[in-house]
Amino acid sequence: MSYKIAVLAGDGIGPEIVAQARKVIDAIAEKFDHQFEYTEALIGASAINVHGNPYPDETHELCMNSDAVLFGAIGDPKYDNDPNAKVRPEQGLLAMRQKLGLYANLRPLEPFKALLHKSPLKTELLEGVDFLCIRELTGGIYFGRPQGRSEDGQTAYDTCVYTAEEVERIVRLGFEFAGKRRKKLTVVDKANVLATSRLWREIAQKLEPEYPQIEVEYMFVDNAAMQIITWPKRFDVMVTENMFGDILTDEASVISGSLGMLPSASIGIHTSIFEPIHGSYPQAAGKNIANPCATVLSAAMMLDHAFGLKMEAALVRLAVEKSIEANFVTEDLAEGGKAFSTSEVGDWLVNFIKENSL
Ligand code: IPM
Ligand code: MN
Repeated sequence: MSYKIAVLAGDGIGPEIVAQARKVIDAIAEKFDHQFEYTEALIGASAINVHGNPYPDETHELCMNSDAVLFGAIGDPKYDNDPNAKVRPEQGLLAMRQKLGLYANLRPLEPFKALLHKSPLKTELLEGVDFLCIRELTGGIYFGRPQGRSEDGQTAYDTCVYTAEEVERIVRLGFEFAGKRRKKLTVVDKANVLATSRLWREIAQKLEPEYPQIEVEYMFVDNAAMQIITWPKRFDVMVTENMFGDILTDEASVISGSLGMLPSASIGIHTSIFEPIHGSYPQAAGKNIANPCATVLSAAMMLDHAFGLKMEAALVRLAVEKSIEANFVTEDLAEGGKAFSTSEVGDWLVNFIKENSL
């Protein structure tokens, strides 16, 4: 089988970490006799520099015609510090999600044992943590209109909008995933304040009878933020709206010992995207020090979810786990020990894959 992968490395550390994921996929190709065909395209600040557009049409065409998208990171501090910038790199990511109809972002959290002591949480709170956050990705306050400023500039507004259809498809996905796991679904909202949240709750309650085997609980987002650090084991599948999911998954990611470890998959109508949940880490760009593991693990999710290559994906995950056990890690995880470079970690993973089987 041959698989077409669109490679959108993006900005900052994007190119360096994506290069390691490609090396790892190549090692898988060689070992298991698969063909992966890569085509690169621009997105984010690097696309603005060339085309004046953070998600050029040709990038969209490529994504539409690929079997999966491997994505690095976008963002450039130049834009963060300029609130009046007309185009922003992040608009590229948002446009891509929207145009590809990727309404669900899957963010699994399953900390590696060898990293538990690096978490800011006590080890006993972490053992056995295994949860999946499903973040709605193409609605809510990120996309609701109107958005903007009053004429005198003294008032600014964003609008949070959800249709029943948007809510139903994502909450259903939550029920489906819970059914394949430990059969518990936590619906996170702010139904005591927000109308959109009340719609979420109403729809989830309407769906409950269709999934009698699933235990459902409803939780306000502020409480959820607290429970993620006080009792993370209680979660199996969590489903929530776009912005709550953005915030809660950054919080959840540090539990695993490093933000540099968490992969994600964005799925929906057209081609799925696989991307680390961290940002473009501009301070590290070009220095060969960033942790490539979140991107490598995103590539494993791609092998698994987009191509159905379960064994291959499991071998990639095992390689990452073993590299951590061997303390062959980048500086974010080095803790006084020797820190290895981004590409050295990539090489280590490639060698492991060459020399080991499940
Ligand atoms: C993420 C990022 C993006 C988001 C930004 C870069 C627009 O933080 O993927 O979590 O907020 O969705
Ligand atoms: Mn985020």
